[in-house]
Amino acid sequence: MTWNNGAVRTPDQRSFYDAVGGHETFVRIVGRFYAEVAEDPLLRPMYPDEDLSDPAARLTMFLEQYWGGPTTYSEQRGHPRLGMRHAPFPVTPAARDRWLTHMRSALEESGMSAEHVATFWEYVVRAAHFLVNTPDDEPPKPSLPIDTTGTASVTQ
Ligand code: HEM
Repeated sequence: MTWNNGAVRTPDQRSFYDAVGGHETFVRIVGRFYAEVAEDPLLRPMYPDEDLSDPAARLTMFLEQYWGGPTTYSEQRGHPRLGMRHAPFPVTPAARDRWLTHMRSALEESGMSAEHVATFWEYVVRAAHFLVNTPDDEPPKPSLPIDTTGTASVTQ
């Protein structure tokens, strides 16, 4: 679902990638995004890398490819399999919301038109919801009485 390989076209048949200004625009978005991630106490510890330039390069290539730009991502990394690649990290709803907050400000600072921002945003919101793999910490639940038929009773 996060795989596109260049199919996104604007009505004038240019790729979305070209329409928004190509490589420079994607570098700007991802640069801004990771500058904020670097300061985020929930997200930063998830990134194993000491400096975030490799993750930034991977996200840039991925987004460029998704939006119809060069296919360098798949040449270097193969099929994205984003669900699998995020499996080692606890992507909670809170982490998702932090991730999206930083992406939102990066998109708003990108110089793209409001319409392009909206299109891009719709995609990342969907992708980020899809990638949640861990519930937020919940307060411990009281243990439920278990009856001998094996059915938990929630009424007592
Ligand atoms: C929902 C919150 C998210 C969190 C907490 C998160 C976190 C991470 C972390 C910790 C990594 C490993 C660093 C790296 O190897 O680059 C990573 C990789 C990556 N993420 Fe996310 N991510 C999130 C959402 C997304 C979304 C929405 C997308 C795409 C639209 C995305 C695309 C990628 C890509 C392309 C990689 C590199 C995969 C590779 O190894 O080739 N992530 N992410």
